[in-house]
Amino acid sequence: MKLLQSTLQIGLEQPLKILHVTDSHIALADERDNERKHALAQRLGSPDKEQYLQEHLAYGREHCDLIVHTGDLIDFTSQANFDFAREVLADEKVFFAAGNHEFSQYVGEAYEDRAYKMNSYNEMRPGLGAPLFFNARTVGGVNFVSIDNSYHQFEPWQLTRLEKEIAKGLPVILCVHAPLFEASLFEHHCQLRGKGSSSYLVGCDEDHLPDDEWRAIEIRPRGITAEAVDFIKSQPLIKAVLAGHIHFSFVSELAPGMTQFVTGGAYEGIAREITIL
Ligand SMILES: [Fe+2]
Repeated sequence: MKLLQSTLQIGLEQPLKILHVTDSHIALADERDNERKHALAQRLGSPDKEQYLQEHLAYGREHCDLIVHTGDLIDFTSQANFDFAREVLADEKVFFAAGNHEFSQYVGEAYEDRAYKMNSYNEMRPGLGAPLFFNARTVGGVNFVSIDNSYHQFEPWQLTRLEKEIAKGLPVILCVHAPLFEASLFEHHCQLRGKGSSSYLVGCDEDHLPDDEWRAIEIRPRGITAEAVDFIKSQPLIKAVLAGHIHFSFVSELAPGMTQFVTGGAYEGIAREITIL
């Protein structure tokens, strides 16, 4: 395990410790799954991924008040992966935001839209034991809110629910899979992946969309998404955003007093302990 350490100052009376884990990409298949799932498990599975996740969970249980997993816990939909995820999410210390791979049927084979996601959701019946699209939990005076933005969009009902959570008046830590657009994160991503590469950030304007047309269609904000990102950045009670998805670690300010913590892939052993003061 490679443990990053961060601090967040929000004026708590009692310090709170959380472990941020993201992108474990567990890839399992068993006798209930078809041959294509087995081939994926063969290609993408690794005992290291499971070992790292167990280390993260063990560390979080022992040292932290909450383990926040921001998605891509599993790499694709399979009965074996669902059972694995159910076991992880049954731990009351784990708080979860879904990622795009929670709904990926064969990894990168289809245009992923709401209909595709709901097909995958149906496959999970009766779910994974934790809400996947929106959830909120108060721990140590902090309201942790998770929103599924894994297809780079927000939906109107999620914004309404977020407004209700903010109205409770507690400091909020927003947990999402895909990071929100922020200029220094975008620049860093371009340096790592090459200019014009997919940015995979939510709320990109036309100047910051990927060159690739297919990717741009997916990432271009639709519906209420741009408004939701502006709304989030304007809320002084939202103290931090936790995200993953892009498989590298980066910390920056989304707005004055609002830090975005992007944490690298748990499949490589990375996790971030955040001490909230
Ligand atoms: Fe992802």
